[in-house]
Amino acid sequence: MAQRETWATRTGFILAAVGSAVGLGNIWRFPFLVGQEGGAAFLVVYLLFVALIGFPAMLVEFVVGRRTNRNPVGALKELGGGVWQYLGWVFAATGFIILSYYSVVGGWVLRYVLIGLQGGYVGDIEGAGGQFVEAASGLDAVLGHAIFMAAVIAIVGFGIRRGIEFAVQVMVPAIILIAFGLAVYAFTLPGASEAYAFYLSPDVGEILANWTDILPAAAGQAFFTLSLGMGAMITYASYIGDDRNLAEDGLIIVGLDTLIAFTAGLIVFPIFFTGGVDPANTIGAGAIFISLAAALGDLSFGWLIGTVFFGTIAIAALSSAISLLEVVVSYLIDERGMERFTATAIVGTIIFVVGIPTALDLVFIDLYDLFANNILLVFGGLMVSIFVGWVISNVALDEIGRGVRNLGSWGDVWIWLVRIPVIVILFVTIYLGVFEYYEFLTGDFADWLGQNL
Ligand code: PHE
Repeated sequence: MAQRETWATRTGFILAAVGSAVGLGNIWRFPFLVGQEGGAAFLVVYLLFVALIGFPAMLVEFVVGRRTNRNPVGALKELGGGVWQYLGWVFAATGFIILSYYSVVGGWVLRYVLIGLQGGYVGDIEGAGGQFVEAASGLDAVLGHAIFMAAVIAIVGFGIRRGIEFAVQVMVPAIILIAFGLAVYAFTLPGASEAYAFYLSPDVGEILANWTDILPAAAGQAFFTLSLGMGAMITYASYIGDDRNLAEDGLIIVGLDTLIAFTAGLIVFPIFFTGGVDPANTIGAGAIFISLAAALGDLSFGWLIGTVFFGTIAIAALSSAISLLEVVVSYLIDERGMERFTATAIVGTIIFVVGIPTALDLVFIDLYDLFANNILLVFGGLMVSIFVGWVISNVALDEIGRGVRNLGSWGDVWIWLVRIPVIVILFVTIYLGVFEYYEFLTGDFADWLGQNL
């Protein structure tokens, strides 16, 4: 059998993992969640969850991946035996579904780069809304989805070193630099101080009053943004060597991801406040495409800022999408002996087809997103945490200690964070997520079916 691929350098792995983590979750999802869930109050809970839940959960996946040097299905089979491999299947299915609509949103972003270049952001909310609906569903959206997916397939098809590692070395530094540049620009806008007040001064009363909304939203977001719960970090860690300190790498990755999300807020909110848009009414998924585009339409040089901003998001989305595809591809290579390029092309094409409905009608984005994000992702994270925290904790503690000079009692701190807080919070989150999905299925989605069938 051919030797399994590995990352060429430590930086290569870190950049790939940061590339996976930093994506639509940071720049698209995070600002609209902050807007909807009460500004700084949400930010505080989110930061807390990233540190207390997200970071330990990332190490859980690293340990499984590096220990086995296998894809998620193979890794769980090896460590836990028969039944646990089904969890690997859940991971693969989750990645499959997420990528199918993630790519559609990636296509919208590409479209908004073009709109910017043509100088075409409409300066009022209603017009911007019309522009979004036109760009987001229908043949154009299918085309954008196809282009985005083709790029993902091309990168993953070239393999770990020549494809993924090579691409992220250019993409990730670019994302970081441009994001900082845009934040500095946003600082000069007249709405900046109002924006900072909204974004940066938390109100404890607000957290206490709305915790049933804020908690699951913050936990779900912490998982999504760190690419947890579907085996992406298991897969990426399966290509690294034993000599590295997983906790140290994890800290850098979590730190950079959080920094970029935070910076996205520093970009988006000043633009909102300057354009007179209330962040609490940013129309959810349409936030950056409608509200932000409308605010951009009002700014001088808004088209240029918009082009750069959406261009950055496109790169960030691409470097995340490749990790979603790699999960499934690594399974086909490791367990089915398929050749990389064939595996990539076949899976990529099927994912493209599965995503088509979400490019035709926005209601399918919610149908896929709520299920994959609020249920499957959290379920996957919960199960792998139970597995590592309670079933194979000795192996896990041994693995986390490798490449570390002096672990001290940090290993125990980590395993106990996984055993109780991580599991409890994920359990509560999934419970609330199932209810929300039920409401969606019997509400908005049933209405849609009633009108269209
Ligand atoms: N972390 C990515 C983002 O923030 C999304 C993602 C989730 C990627 C799960 C891979 C796995 O956009």
